[in-house]
Amino acid sequence: MPVDEDKYPVESDRRRFVKGVVGGATLAGITTAGSAAVNSATAPSGQGGGTTTFRAVENTDGPAPRGMPQIPIELEPIDGEDDYYIKGVWPEVSTETQQGREVKVAKQDIAGVTYSSEWFQYCGVQTYTGVYPDAQEENSDLTNYFRYTESSQYEWQSSEVSGGDRMKLSDFEDYETWENGVGTPGIGKPATGTWRSEGLEPAETMPVEIIRSKRIEQMAKENPDSWLAASTDQGVMAHLNKCTHFCCVPGFKKEGSAKFAAADAIYCQCHQSVYDPFNIVEKSFVALPRPSKE
Ligand code: FES
Repeated sequence: MPVDEDKYPVESDRRRFVKGVVGGATLAGITTAGSAAVNSATAPSGQGGGTTTFRAVENTDGPAPRGMPQIPIELEPIDGEDDYYIKGVWPEVSTETQQGREVKVAKQDIAGVTYSSEWFQYCGVQTYTGVYPDAQEENSDLTNYFRYTESSQYEWQSSEVSGGDRMKLSDFEDYETWENGVGTPGIGKPATGTWRSEGLEPAETMPVEIIRSKRIEQMAKENPDSWLAASTDQGVMAHLNKCTHFCCVPGFKKEGSAKFAAADAIYCQCHQSVYDPFNIVEKSFVALPRPSKE
């Protein structure tokens, strides 16, 4: 599979504009990939990075070079309530010997897919505390719960829950009928959140998006042994919410997306990239190494 494949262009005015951006992005991509290759060749072991295959919400339009990485979820029963917390699965941490040194890696097999911390190592996230395999050993505040962002583009989120609250399954119970006046009603209910970011500076906050959708539930049911079935539960799917173009934070059913045929998709307002949360694809990219902590 080609790494960071670009599929482009180019009929309308909008696309001509985008094409200009693509040129820049492609160049930036080459620079990044080149420096990553140099870094991983020369960096001490244990920093991760390099060509990584991952599962993504598919990029269907705009200058983004690939989809955004999915985060497998799990539901944790809440004591004394008929409800669940929604958590992101962090890959199992183990110790490997690389170049004669013992290093920590976060990697596990899920339904035949190798899920690793490297999936998230782009757009500066490779420097965040939460992306280090053993971050929780050194930062006891860090958890895998998804927590609501302080502010949200979604009215339901601003009025019904508070920033920092842990996301609960019951918050999404109207997912089959929810609408916000953008796109098709009832196609899915989104929320914006953070992950593995407690107590860290805002610049180290890992942005995530959670979508609960009947479509996802259906697809998982039809393919019970698939990655999709293993990485979602009761229609809840999560992805790192960093656009793979220039790192903006996109959104599902976002205001302004209808003009770009993205009303039922995830839309990035910066340069009109579009992602399809109902099509999970396998992609490869060159993950950036984590800076050495020593
Ligand atoms: S399209 Fe450029 S940052 Fe998202």
